[in-house]
Amino acid sequence: MKIAILASGGNSPGMNNAIITLVKTAQVHKIDVLLISDGYRGLLEDKFTSANIRYLEQFNSRGNVVIGSARSKEFMQTPYKKKAAAILKKRKVDVLVVIGGDGSYLGAASLTHFGVKVMTLPGTIDNDVASTDSTIGFYTCLHTIVTAIDALRDSFDSHSGICFVEVMGRGYSDLAIQAGVATEAEAIVTKDNILKAHDFVKIANETFKRGKRSCIFIITEKIYGLDGLPSLDDIAQEVNQKTMRTCRVNVIGHIQRGGTVSATDRF
Ligand code: F6P
Repeated sequence: MKIAILASGGNSPGMNNAIITLVKTAQVHKIDVLLISDGYRGLLEDKFTSANIRYLEQFNSRGNVVIGSARSKEFMQTPYKKKAAAILKKRKVDVLVVIGGDGSYLGAASLTHFGVKVMTLPGTIDNDVASTDSTIGFYTCLHTIVTAIDALRDSFDSHSGICFVEVMGRGYSDLAIQAGVATEAEAIVTKDNILKAHDFVKIANETFKRGKRSCIFIITEKIYGLDGLPSLDDIAQEVNQKTMRTCRVNVIGHIQRGGTVSATDRF
């Protein structure tokens, strides 16, 4: 029996550990393993290598994905899916293992229509995969966000300021909610709780009246600036004008997807 492993979508801390575990388990069961570089794109380019466990193990603690990942627009189209299935057949792969999030799962599911057997592992910081409490990478990412917000709190406490912190999650709010609760944020914006500039002004005024020295608002990405909503920068400017306080937007960004993998995500 032979399996091939690929990672797809945004890297998430712990993908390496998933690969290492798959390779070791396969070895115990005398299953051959091939690694595919750079996700579905690499599959279409026939980028297969054999697995070297000694090499892979060096990346046990790192938040990168050692085999590379990618987002492939081509792969969404039927002719390319047929091509992928043919390549897997030529390589005599019995099962394709896909590590990724929501979009990667859809890609994997669509391959089954072309006779490919697939197995999936939830590797994404977004925690947007059903039937798992936490996706691989979620807790490392959450810790990274919380650490960043702690530092922002230090800065904004010093200046009696207001900070809008945008966090990733592809519109899915688990990261924002849990980070907001963990850091005692003054408000958390999700798709179900969209605040307007005057709401932020009200919360900020109340917060400073209570004697707190800073105001942290956690914002789920991909909400403001879309669907007719003002951008976060515009909101921050309005809040600044109405409160006369330092008011800044900080986007945590891709730091969220890297770093040392937490014990939970390694496990
Ligand atoms: O899916 C992981 C993720 O980091 C999302 O949270 C974010 O919206 C997206 O990927 C960012 O994608 P890119 O790295 O292509 O900018």
